[in-house]
Formats: sequence, structure tokens, C-alpha cells
Amino acid sequence: MKQAAAKAALDYIEVGDVIGVGTGSTANYFIDALARSGPAVDGAVASSEATAERLAGHGIRVLDLNDCGELPLYVDGADEFDAGLNLIKGGGGALTREKIVAESCRQFVCIVDASKAVDVLGEFPLPVEVIPMARALVCRRIASEGGEPVLRERFVTDNGNIIVDVRGLRIGDPSSLEMRLNQIPGVVTNGLFALRPADVVLVGTRAGLERREREEIQ
Ligand code: 5RP
Repeated sequence: MKQAAAKAALDYIEVGDVIGVGTGSTANYFIDALARSGPAVDGAVASSEATAERLAGHGIRVLDLNDCGELPLYVDGADEFDAGLNLIKGGGGALTREKIVAESCRQFVCIVDASKAVDVLGEFPLPVEVIPMARALVCRRIASEGGEPVLRERFVTDNGNIIVDVRGLRIGDPSSLEMRLNQIPGVVTNGLFALRPADVVLVGTRAGLERREREEIQ
């Protein structure tokens, strides 16, 4: 189901594009499909060191985001999505770079299997990237939001920071929580993608591919 969604995202690429590429097993299927049978891209901006390595391994040119203008397309997976195409991301710990690259792209195509669909975000623990010295402060503030913060053991992000996974949230207003969490000093960013949600979610299901689109695409 992940592979079907990944392959369907190839249709959004134009020959010669430079595209943004996400992180995780579904993004890996996308990279492999791109290399095998996708349109010839001019290069890609990676949302993690692991993705950069996989792209380069296929001979796809990896570019620095700072050397690119706005990109046409970002393709990435997610841990959860809701009816408004708001997402939780960061299961792989790449949320900050993913958010930076997503924000740099005109269209965000999210590729998932059917297990990622939810009515209300928050069953998947919400990842928050934190500067190490702020861990205790951030955990106290998260607890006051009603969440249970759990340090991700033996994990350091590509940016040299830690991840706190927040359990027990039922996220009724994702944009507002995304903003509030990002105001806590020491939070680099959190894994809610609601201020910049997906534009399209391609869902691999047992019955075939489903396409969900957000009404107003910027
Ligand atoms: C990585 C992510 C991934 O997109 C998310 O965890 C989904 O992963 P997978 O495609 O392996 O199910 O946000 O930080």
C-alpha cells in the first residue's frame, strides 16, 4: 500500500524539476520508484541525511536548499492525517528538516498507507525536537498542555538535538497547538503539520489508491 502511494506521486513531477523529498519507509519507496521509472529530475533537496544518502546512491543529484528558490513539489510520508490533511510527522525524527523543505515547496503531496487515517490527530505520539538543555522545561510545559512527554531514548536528530514524544493528546485544534508548542523556548519545532498541511494525500488501500485533496491549494 505504501509502494502504490509512492508510485502514484511520480505523476506530480515534471521533467527537469528539482523536488523536495521526505524521510521514512514510504519516502524510500518513492525514491526507489523515482530512480527506476520516474521522470528525469534535475535534482532533489533531502529532508534528512538518510534520504540524501539514498538519493545519491541512485545517482540523483542532491542540492542544498539554500541554493534553490521555491520548489514545485515536496513528497513525504506521515504518521497520521486527518480530514483537513493536517498531519503528524516525525516518527523518523526528521520533522524539522521536513517542515523546512515542505514550507519551501508550492505543493506538498503526502504518501501513506490506509493505517495513517484518523478522525482526530494524537493517537500517534507527537514528536517534538528540543535543544538538549531545555528538555526539563519543555517537558513541564508539555505536561501543562495535558500531554505525557517521553524522551526518545538513544536518538539524536540530524541537527544534534533530542526528540520528546508526547502521548495522550487529542488534538482538536492542530494549528493552535502547533503554534503554542513552538512558542516554548528550546522547542525547535513539533511534528504537527497544520499551518502548512498537505495539499494532496495519496492513500494506498487494499482496494486501490485513494486521492484526497485540500480545497484551496496555495
Ligand atoms: C519521518 C516521518 C515519516 O514520514 C513518518 O514517520 C512516516 O514514516 P513511514 O513512511 O516509514 O511510515 O515523518 O520523520
